[in-house]
Parts: sequence; structure tokens; C-alpha cells
Amino acid sequence: MSIAWDESLAVGDPTIDGDHRRMIELIAQLEAAAVAEIDCAAIGRTLRALTDLCREHFTREEALQARVGFPEAQSHRTAHEMLMRRLESVLAHYGDGCDEVRAGIVRTLGDSLATWLVSHIVNSDMEFKPYVAGG
Ligand SMILES: [Fe+2]
Repeated sequence: MSIAWDESLAVGDPTIDGDHRRMIELIAQLEAAAVAEIDCAAIGRTLRALTDLCREHFTREEALQARVGFPEAQSHRTAHEMLMRRLESVLAHYGDGCDEVRAGIVRTLGDSLATWLVSHIVNSDMEFKPYVAGG
């Protein structure tokens, strides 16, 4: 799945929207590095950058939700934790090796991350948009 940022994904907070935009870019880079001429160094680098960004972003987003009194903050946090566990386990298993099988795993991961992120923004992050606007 190829994804791109568009304004319909904006939740109205410039930092959070900037993070989401960057996450979408990194997922696209990850997918690009795992097809045709497999770029192992780029896969490792991008996977690490994406994992770091997600960790920082989720902390920022959870702080914003606490600040604006978003009532679904706890279940939202659980969804973030599940994604982080998945990313960290792929990163741990990926190690330094690189071959067609591992690139295939990264392709599948990139695809499911793209689907997860867009649906998370559209269905869950959008729920706190009114709180951001009202706060
Ligand atoms: Fe979120």
C-alpha cells in the first residue's frame, strides 16, 4: 500500500500533524528500500528512525491528550503500546543481517504499518480533534 499525506489527515495540532507526515514519509521510504534493488543499510536506518519517531510521537500525543482532557486516552495509549511492541520486535529480530526473506518481512511490515497508521489517524486520532480545537 502506498500512502501519502493529505490535509484530511490533519488533527489540528501542528506538531502532531508534522509527526504524522514524517511517519508516512518514513513508511514510504521503508517500502521503497525493500523492493527491487534491496537496500539493506537503508532498511535498517529507516526502521530505526521510524521506531524512534513513533516512540517520541506517541509520548507527545499522549501528553496532548492528557492536557486537553481526552476521555479515551487510556485505550488510545494501549493501541500505541501494541504498535511499539511490534516495531521493537521487528527491529530486534532484523539485526544486522539482510537477505530476500528479511526484506520480504520488512515489505509486509511496511504494508501493515501504512494500513495501521492511516486507520489509526482517521479513526482514533480524529476523535481528539474537537478537543484540540476547543482547547
Ligand atoms: Fe494516536
